[in-house]
Amino acid sequence: MVQKIWYTYDDIHQVLKALAEKITAGSVKFDAMIAIGGGGFIPARILRCFLNIPIYAVTTAYYDGDSDGRPTDAVRKIQWLDPLPESLKGKNVLVVDEVDDSRVTMEFVLNELRREHLGEIGVAVLHEKIKEKTGSIPEDVHYFSGITVEDWWINYPWDACDIVEHNRLASAAKP
Ligand code: G4P
Ligand code: MG
Repeated sequence: MVQKIWYTYDDIHQVLKALAEKITAGSVKFDAMIAIGGGGFIPARILRCFLNIPIYAVTTAYYDGDSDGRPTDAVRKIQWLDPLPESLKGKNVLVVDEVDDSRVTMEFVLNELRREHLGEIGVAVLHEKIKEKTGSIPEDVHYFSGITVEDWWINYPWDACDIVEHNRLASAAKP
């Protein structure tokens, strides 16, 4: 059975504050974020409290298997920055997502963005799962993660239909 973990908005806010400190202490000054929706939207918005840079967005959907159960590992664009806004040309951008899992989505997004006329590219994820990765992050991309976590299924508060029950499960699991 897959192990599960629950994080509250407060847990996430604190990790994002620490993540912002790592980003600010790094060698690159980022001009804007590009959130990968849906999971990257709320982390990017909270990061903005600390980084004070504008948020742009792309949205992808990931499919790990077709209807016959064959693995496809396909990422599809739901919405894209196409064409890239003039205001992003030559700028240093920080790609934001909630979780570094297989890196399939991350690799897809980074490869698409590296074709554009951007400056430096960074990636910031709230949770970095320690596991074998299918996709890869190019070496010239600056990488930041809030915390490393076990390869468990993470329940995010923004997915909760009952936030009170979600918070109860999060606190029950705390040591
Ligand atoms: P990665 O490149 O960033 O590592 O992501 P990957 O393609 O492996 O992720 C595939 C989808 O699975 C993503 O959703 C990701 O958010 C989701 N995912 C992976 N691990 C977890 C987890 O532990 N908990 C939850 N809740 N989701 C997880 P997506 O297709 O981008 O959808 P969306 O929810 O972001 O809209
Ligand atoms: Mg996502």
